[in-house]
Amino acid sequence: MKLKLLFLIFSIFLSCSKKESMRLKNTKIIIAHRGASGYLPEHTLAAKAMAHAMNADFIEQDLVLSKDNIPMVIHDIYLDDVTDVSEIFPDKKRNDGRFYVIDFTFDELKKLAVFERFDPKTGKQIYANRFPKGKGSFRLHSLQEEIELIQGLNKSTGKNSGIYPEIKTPEFHKKEGKNISEIVLQILADYGYKTKKDKCILQCFDAKELKRIRKELTSELFLVQLMEFPEETAQLAYFASYADGIGPWYKQILNKKIHGKWTFTTLVSDAHKLGLQVHPYTFRADQLDDFYSFDELLHTFLIDANVDGVFTDFPDLGVTFLQQFNQ
Ligand code: G3P
Ligand code: CA
Repeated sequence: MKLKLLFLIFSIFLSCSKKESMRLKNTKIIIAHRGASGYLPEHTLAAKAMAHAMNADFIEQDLVLSKDNIPMVIHDIYLDDVTDVSEIFPDKKRNDGRFYVIDFTFDELKKLAVFERFDPKTGKQIYANRFPKGKGSFRLHSLQEEIELIQGLNKSTGKNSGIYPEIKTPEFHKKEGKNISEIVLQILADYGYKTKKDKCILQCFDAKELKRIRKELTSELFLVQLMEFPEETAQLAYFASYADGIGPWYKQILNKKIHGKWTFTTLVSDAHKLGLQVHPYTFRADQLDDFYSFDELLHTFLIDANVDGVFTDFPDLGVTFLQQFNQ
């Protein structure tokens, strides 16, 4: 009788802990980095629609202001590594030889063709096996245009993909006399993204600006502090005073391989103790570095290192990985 009771208690314990681990796994998110950028030119509406069709949980928008204060979805403050700007507006380059988004109106930016990312000095595309540079027909677009695409697709498909905007180089914008964060927050609010319950995560590398967004601009959105330097790992408690998560470079989490198994820094567990979610960047199936396969890379971070989500150029592979792991 006692043995039966013990067995029953043990079974209940096993079933609860299994459910708990399933619940934790199911909360992990796949973030489409610049859209489905492994397959289509980054930050094009086509790449965003593809990421949505691939069931990405969140779709990323890097944001830079135009001359007339429209937040454009583009990774750099420059135009010459993803567009034909040097052919269309050859006279608009600055003394440093670069073409700046902020020097062009929205209407001017719409005249540019967008290509797969390339080195502006050589013209050679960065990822050789991706969408061929110069092919297809793509344009730049604003944050508003992208939100309308994603919200429209959410309605027509019944899905609920979130947005994951990044405020790019706030100091540069300030020097140019522009307040990018205020403009972006207003647009997000206009489209219904106001609190942590709304499917929007706002990110920034600039800690001073992200803190200002929380404390001075009183944003109630889910905020993620991006990280890139080793010394920033000592600032986790400070980040937790205004942010809800961190977005580290994935190598900040890796330690070394011992007997074929990766070991990790304490970054993820330290962040979790402070209540911070961890979304490392950037996972690319065509840039595996020290890993044998993309599945090994995803398993190492999503399962072994226990991060809460990943930025990836290949959202379909991330979604499939989590689905298969949860079966
Ligand atoms: O924002 C996180 C991820 O996108 C990595 O940064 O340089 O690609 O904007 P970046
Ligand atoms: Ca980004």
